[in-house]
Amino acid sequence: METRAGDPGAFARFDLSRVDSPAFVVDAAALRRNLGVLADVRDRAGIKLLAALKAFSMWRVAPLITRYLDGVCTSGLWEAKLAGEFYGGEIATYCAGYKAEDLAEICRLSDHVIFNSPAQIARFAPILAAARESGDRFDVGLRINPLHAEGEVPRYDPCAPHSRLGFPVDQLTDAHLEGVSGIHFHSLCEQDLEPLKRTWDVLLPRLKPHLGRLSWLNFGGGHHITRADYQRDELVEFLKQVKAETGCELYLEPGEAVALDAGILVGSILDVQTNGMPVAITDISATCHMPDVIEAPYRPAMLGERQDDSEPVRLGGPSCLAGDVIGDYRLPAQCEPGARFAFLDQAHYSMVKTTTFNGVPLPSIWLWDSETDALERLRSFAYEDFRDRLS
Ligand SMILES: Cc1ncc(COP(=O)(O)O)c(C=O)c1O
Repeated sequence: METRAGDPGAFARFDLSRVDSPAFVVDAAALRRNLGVLADVRDRAGIKLLAALKAFSMWRVAPLITRYLDGVCTSGLWEAKLAGEFYGGEIATYCAGYKAEDLAEICRLSDHVIFNSPAQIARFAPILAAARESGDRFDVGLRINPLHAEGEVPRYDPCAPHSRLGFPVDQLTDAHLEGVSGIHFHSLCEQDLEPLKRTWDVLLPRLKPHLGRLSWLNFGGGHHITRADYQRDELVEFLKQVKAETGCELYLEPGEAVALDAGILVGSILDVQTNGMPVAITDISATCHMPDVIEAPYRPAMLGERQDDSEPVRLGGPSCLAGDVIGDYRLPAQCEPGARFAFLDQAHYSMVKTTTFNGVPLPSIWLWDSETDALERLRSFAYEDFRDRLS
């Protein structure tokens, strides 16, 4: 998979020795830029825009996100609790499968509780009724599956054949929408406007008969709105048109676009040897710190990578996994123990996915503001964090 991010922005002038290693460094100014772009689209289109916590839930910047956006979307009880504790505005919770014991608290915390199937809505009707009885105010939503694949990679395509995500829209009847105020779909990944338009063209005829009973539509995430070449003016026009033709409030809930190109992961070379080519062990592990490198897979861009024809070095993590390989790179500096380097665009879907497999230490988390040069270590992790996740 090709990642289309990787603009170093102000990190081009960040001195990597200012932080420990490994470390995530997030630039607050880059976040403000992304949030400003998203808020502008929201304002011009007259829609609501939520940040997807699953992509980026660095709660120390929650006040910043709350200042720009309408709230957050969450994936279940724990993210909803995080949202309730730190973030302002609306909370939309979607989970593929709720547990009865979590639902009352989710209803208390959330403005929208979005289900993956009409069967779950029916099964949990008594819990929803009891929550309302006790004074909770929330809308029930249904995630549908548009059955229209636009994904490049099946693993990231909720419309791939036999997907479990969303109720197949060709089965939707009025009866399924009993008590349902909104329809949700999420079927894009790092995509432009055209795939969204094509999805909507397929969906509109299916949804038309039901629109009269719906008050909102949520178009999920996967919209790469903050990427420099995204068609933002056209998106605004499209959203205005959908709003006018459906009479529904519209929601977008991007995650990646909130933190696009807003963070780096700094690492160090631990050892170098030759095995047909130079190979280096680093203190960054693909499997523990950037699992999408293996899952997607993709090759993260390196800050300041040399673009010459020198021999590249294969970089991999300190874990025992043979496949814990990040990729082949031409480091900006001599590849020797102690040398620092950084991967670009690591604020989203890396920090939230880290593990301590093999007892590999977690990267610390730093907040930098490239406009003021203020730099603060928000969090570092110790042996006890590893120990306390086990028993
Ligand atoms: C339901 C839902 N909403 C929003 C998002 C955020 O998507 P992205 O970070 O690609 O914008 C996702 C991502 O998987 C999702 O599953």
